Amino acid sequence: MSKVGAGSKVMIGKLTDIPEKVGKEVIIGVNSIAVFRLPNGTVRAVENKCPHKGGPLSQGIVAGEHVFCPLHDWKVCLSDGLVQKPDTGCVKTYETVVDRGNVFLIIN
Ligand code: FES
Repeated sequence: MSKVGAGSKVMIGKLTDIPEKVGKEVIIGVNSIAVFRLPNGTVRAVENKCPHKGGPLSQGIVAGEHVFCPLHDWKVCLSDGLVQKPDTGCVKTYETVVDRGNVFLIIN
């Protein structure tokens, strides 16, 4: 098994393999990451664990730049990871790169 170090750029597949507005879980090392392709073609990646009670955000409903947790409907911004009011908290976000149709995550 290969070890993922700091600042690693990891290819997770082709852009066309990520369905639009439907989360996809990607496991890299010990990290479970929720990846989303938005209607404008950008890719967002956040920790796949809701700060409330650990709900899998990859199974949430996407609306614009946000995902609604499938367990209790907390709204999480996919750009900065912040939970929207009236709830509070945040999830880790990951930088994404799309290069010639391939999607990469930057793991720090
Ligand atoms: S676990 Fe996500 S809202 Fe409760």
